[in-house]
Amino acid sequence: MQRKTSSSLLGLVGRGGVYGRSCPHRSLVATTGSSEEVEPPPYNPDVKDRSVIVRKKGVEVLHDPWWNKGTSFNYVERDALSLRGLLPPCEIPFSKQIERFMKEYQHGIAHVAPKDETVTPENIRKWKALESLQNRNEVLFYKILLDNFEDMAPIVYTPTVGWCCQNFHLIYRQARGLFISERDRGMMSSLVYNWPASKIHAIVVTDGSRVLGLGDLGVNGLGISIGKLDIYCAGAGFHPSRVMPVVIDVGTNNESLLNHPLYFGLRRRRLEGDEYYELIDEFMRAVLARYPNVLIQFEDFSTNHAQALLDRYREHHLVFNDDIQGTATTVLGGIYGALAVKGSQAKDITEQTIVVCGAGSAGMGVVQFLAKAMTKHGLSEEEARERFWILDEDGLITRGRPGNVPSFVKPFSRKDAGMEGQDLLSTIREAKPTILIGASTVGGLFTSEHLEAMSESCDRPLVMPLSNPTSKLECTSEQSAQWTKGKGIFAAGSPQPNCVYDGQEIASSQANNMYIFPGLALGASVGKCKIITDNMLMSASESLVNCITQEDLSKGSIYPKLSMIRDISLEIACSVIEQAVVDKVVKADSRAAEVLEEQGREGLKSFVKSRMFQPNYDPLVYLPPGIGE
Ligand code: NAI
Repeated sequence: MQRKTSSSLLGLVGRGGVYGRSCPHRSLVATTGSSEEVEPPPYNPDVKDRSVIVRKKGVEVLHDPWWNKGTSFNYVERDALSLRGLLPPCEIPFSKQIERFMKEYQHGIAHVAPKDETVTPENIRKWKALESLQNRNEVLFYKILLDNFEDMAPIVYTPTVGWCCQNFHLIYRQARGLFISERDRGMMSSLVYNWPASKIHAIVVTDGSRVLGLGDLGVNGLGISIGKLDIYCAGAGFHPSRVMPVVIDVGTNNESLLNHPLYFGLRRRRLEGDEYYELIDEFMRAVLARYPNVLIQFEDFSTNHAQALLDRYREHHLVFNDDIQGTATTVLGGIYGALAVKGSQAKDITEQTIVVCGAGSAGMGVVQFLAKAMTKHGLSEEEARERFWILDEDGLITRGRPGNVPSFVKPFSRKDAGMEGQDLLSTIREAKPTILIGASTVGGLFTSEHLEAMSESCDRPLVMPLSNPTSKLECTSEQSAQWTKGKGIFAAGSPQPNCVYDGQEIASSQANNMYIFPGLALGASVGKCKIITDNMLMSASESLVNCITQEDLSKGSIYPKLSMIRDISLEIACSVIEQAVVDKVVKADSRAAEVLEEQGREGLKSFVKSRMFQPNYDPLVYLPPGIGE
């Protein structure tokens, strides 16, 4: 670029001139004592900017390999093509997309090594096969998933989905799910209309702050919403086109993701305080404005927000939190199963003495719900609390505990301050528990001494080490069988093999939320419920036991077989609707409630079943857009 002095031009333009300071054709550079005009680069009339006309919008663009640029669409294009919300918030340059593909080309997906011992390269290979099938043929995908549910659920859902979330930014291939970020503030009610379906029955939403046991994974948390809804569709018959996985990107405190060149979430630390809640409120208003009957499941929100969000919305909207409510409902269902194994009734829960190791969100969520079940069966709140002995890392929690005891733990602290901090063995000897629950995250916490002591005072102790993953189980199924001399009934948080003791097969059950959440969601959605009450959750727990076969009960199974998931979900859904009618929380236009009144439980069962998606090839018919929608 050349510079030349031009006093005449300075006289005209330097004082503001006809174009003022924004004159696009000339620029002036002030130098000491004089000014220079900068010669603009020569104009080349042969250079042409290319823009390409697209006659599609939204997902149609993303699903068309000819137009799709994936994460490289910039925000101008995203707005012009109604793509906002359908892609991760951060744009990834073309060069990085090439780099990501070349890595896969050179090394396959194996370069994304599993970090957790429960996810093997074999699991990842299977996940990839299923994922690519899902992207090209959902009916076939769901048919195969349903027919092989026990085998494949751990691939599309936990534990493999944990690996998927950790590496979501590396393995992302095809747009799936709705991304809402802090950048969309004030725009969400418009953005939601970019979603292609006019009806949605269920949303699973996460902010990625506490994904499984893997911590803060930011926008990568979308993988868990996707995996969970796969289970909704396969296990409970939600139609795949009527579910919407969502991640709300409020930033991440995960440094390694923040520094990763391919991370496509917002590069900022997590939003906190009022701003956080305002953003989630806006999300709720936006989705409910377009889908007023939708069920919203909160998934993997960090402990500090999970309960607060549940309390904020649960009296107003059809919401639930699987980590808080699903876990407690599943454990209660297992306890009813164990009572059935012993030939006892559900009401006998009032006679159980329960020692719980772990006073965190999982342990205390379970304790509170079990106490509610005891009051339902006749105990006063005070009497129910007396049935529990709770330990944390400092031992037994009593009224003598120094410092601040969290408000949700305090009511369950033992009265006798003299026992403060007592260890597990002394507590077992003192309390003589019938049920021992572990939610401590401490692998191997339960020893032979503990289970032997428990067996001395209880005929058939129920041992529930819930901590995940497998390495954190408080004890294994084999240990439980040996240390209780085959008398123990066993259910763990992670899968454990059945055992043989003294020639007799002993079942090892898994306390898996998958038993409950699909059926609960199905009942709440098909029943057109306004909210989900505690009674509805309890009815879900109670009906689970009806699905266990006599043969399985005789082996000590306290949960039904997962391969029966559709039957389990149907049974739970019907119980949930019945209870919702009793609780008067169904909408006036609930057809399910009418059917129940007119035809009873059997009629309701047929009605709910008729609403479940069956993965079959139905004949397709073409109608132009706008007609018959
Ligand atoms: P957390 O970290 O909030 O709580 C852990 C609790 O264990 C704390 O109260 C801590 O003081 C206590 N603790 C630590 N060492 C102890 C010891 N030696 N003895 C007794 N208590 C001890 O964890 P959170 O979220 O409550 O989860 C706990 C475990 O439960 C995790 O491993 C999680 O994976 C598992 N979990 C399993 C579920 C299932 O099986 N369906 C569902 C939800 C959670």
